Amino acid sequence: MTFTIRPIDPVSRPLFGGEVSGIDITRPLSADEAKAIARGMDQFGVLVFHDQHFDDETQLAFSRNFGTLEEASGDLNWGKARRLESPLVNDISNLDNDNQVMARDDRKRLFSLGNRLWHSDSSFKAVPAKYSLLSGRRIPGAGGNTEFADMRAAYDALDDETKAECEPLICEHSQLYSRALLGFADFTDDDRRRFAPVQQRLVRRHPSTGRKSLYLASHAGAIVGWPVPEARAFLRDLNEHATQRKFVCAHEWKQWDLVMWDNRATMHRARPFNAAEVRDMHRTTVACERSTMAEAA
Ligand code: OGA
Ligand code: MN
Repeated sequence: MTFTIRPIDPVSRPLFGGEVSGIDITRPLSADEAKAIARGMDQFGVLVFHDQHFDDETQLAFSRNFGTLEEASGDLNWGKARRLESPLVNDISNLDNDNQVMARDDRKRLFSLGNRLWHSDSSFKAVPAKYSLLSGRRIPGAGGNTEFADMRAAYDALDDETKAECEPLICEHSQLYSRALLGFADFTDDDRRRFAPVQQRLVRRHPSTGRKSLYLASHAGAIVGWPVPEARAFLRDLNEHATQRKFVCAHEWKQWDLVMWDNRATMHRARPFNAAEVRDMHRTTVACERSTMAEAA
């Protein structure tokens, strides 16, 4: 095995965000290569690979090295005609089913603006996402970065009293909450049923590294047993703490980058770009093995 993983920012973030070179991940991996990438994920939380000319089939094959894949059922139009063929590929683009840039007021576009809020993928599903793998197929000329926040470092930096207060808390996550933050409320009764809140622990222990992290997302809109305004104020403070610039790294996309992140240890968000340009990203998602409620605390 010849590939290397180096910290993207060795001075300020030696343990968050790695850049992988010397491997073509569009080809089948050996078991040792897959294990080394998983170890890199445990260490860095986010890995960046350049020049990986994926199509959906090769991206699915690479992703399957790391576990069972999720369906893209968090989509607003799940069950309806979609642009991408495989139900295991999330359409993270600003394109409609005819491959045209969506109109400014397109309901799907407005829903997808929720990605601009800090989140962890599929925290609104009972069994949430482990890894997300995002392939940059077409990139706008400027903007459209993806930012990542290190939720292990954010947890470690809390004072002992706050750690103890967070430890037993269970949050309720739903896409209805994150979209309400943006003033999007255009949900059908069916959407409301599909997006019913699920419970997640606020503090998670990583199953392979044993490290604790804050499990936050803009989808978290309630804490079990707490009055809603108090829960929201508390979660807002935690989000503000966890997304300080010292915990954040930004990825500037180049076409054919593949960025892979561990949703158990990080949050992320999309940054704006010129809405008239095409931004076409395809995401595959590896599911966790169990809900956070069933995970060892
Ligand atoms: C995602 C996501 C951010 C981006 O794919 O899950 O949140 O920059 N993407 O597109
Ligand atoms: Mn996301």
